Parts: sequence; structure tokens; C-alpha cells
Amino acid sequence: MQLFLDTTDTAILADLAATGLVDGVTTNPSLIAKSGRPMLEVIAEICGLVEGPVSAEVASTETEGMLAEGRKLAGVATNVVVKIPLTRAGLVACAHFGREGIQTNVTLCFSAAQALLAAKAGASYISPFVGRLDDHGADGMSLIAEIRAIYDAYEFDTEILAASIRNPAHVTAAALAGADCATIPPGVFTDLFKHPLTEKGLEQFMSDWAKTGQSIL
Ligand code: E4P
Repeated sequence: MQLFLDTTDTAILADLAATGLVDGVTTNPSLIAKSGRPMLEVIAEICGLVEGPVSAEVASTETEGMLAEGRKLAGVATNVVVKIPLTRAGLVACAHFGREGIQTNVTLCFSAAQALLAAKAGASYISPFVGRLDDHGADGMSLIAEIRAIYDAYEFDTEILAASIRNPAHVTAAALAGADCATIPPGVFTDLFKHPLTEKGLEQFMSDWAKTGQSIL
């Protein structure tokens, strides 16, 4: 399973990328706004920090505008994936990008029927928003399982990118449900390393080791 960081904070990204565990990055217009920086500059910097896919989202809501913006974004670096909203206009643009050899991430997916359409439009990635569905009183993770079943049954190549991840349990559940990737906020990514029993166990081992008076080196 690939783990992506959902961020435009390049300092945090550089720090976590150094672990070798970050397979890619996703961004969205809200995260670009949060960075306070020009979008093309941020995307170019992120693409220099990770070799894997970096999603950069179009701002137009019309097909022609999405195509123009997407082509410009794809020109920033070879690992840019053009992120498109799951609308009728977005899926038409998605099919065009596929014919042009531009990778796509169809975002704001909230139903299995939408995911089916995105796969038929040739999306490289589909982004079901787990946390926002949970917030809405639905079961976000069951959507991942439904999409997995449909994509497997019809042998679609579109990768399932679990998005709107809010906690480590979401990451585990997405993996169990068969997601190909998950995009994770930096705070949650950092929490994935932790378990209270790991900390307690290490403390005990270090205390007992100190009593031996030994040194390995
Ligand atoms: C990633 O592609 C999405 O834009 C992101 O995961 C949305 O997360 P949020 O629901 O926490 O804003």
C-alpha cells in the first residue's frame, strides 16, 4: 500500500520524506491557500522532494479550463498528477487527459457510482473522501470496500486513493478494505509510528540495559 502525504508544507514534507516512507503527495486548493504561496512554485518544490506522484488540482469548473490548467500543471514536473473534481465536466477532461498520457486523480468522490464513472473515464486514481463521509453520518470506509469490489469485478486499473483520512485507524481500515493508497495529513502520519506499549517497552528495555553496564560498540 502506498502512503501519500496530504500537505503543502514543504518543511514538514522534507522531514517526513527523509524516512523513506512517503510514496507521494496530494494537495488541494484549500491546502494551496493555507501555504500562502504561488501554486506553481509550491508544486515544483514538492516535486523536487518526492519522486512519486504529486497531485495538483485544477481550479476551473469547465472542461476546457480544466484542460488548459491541467496541461500547465503537468508541465511543472513529470511526476505531477492532475487532480480533477468528480463532475460531468471533470470526467470529460479526465478522458482527454488519458488520451494525452497525463495522469489524473479524480477527487471529491462520495459514492461507488461516481467511482465507477471515474474508472470508465480512465482515471489513474480515484479519491473517496472517508472522513467527510463519516462527518456526514455515513460509513466512509464501506465506500472503499464497495469501490474495491467493483474495480476488481470489472478489472479497472484505477487506483483507489483513500482521502480525507483523520486518524491512524482510518489508515488501517483503508488497507484492510483494499485501498491501493491513502493520503494522510502530517499529524496522522506521525501518529502512525506511535503506540504507548512501544514507548513503555522501550523505556523498560533501556532501563534494564543501563543496569548491565555494557556497551555494544
Ligand atoms: C486529498 O486529496 C483531499 O483533498 C484531502 O484528503 C481532503 O481532506 P479533508 O477532508 O480533511 O479536507
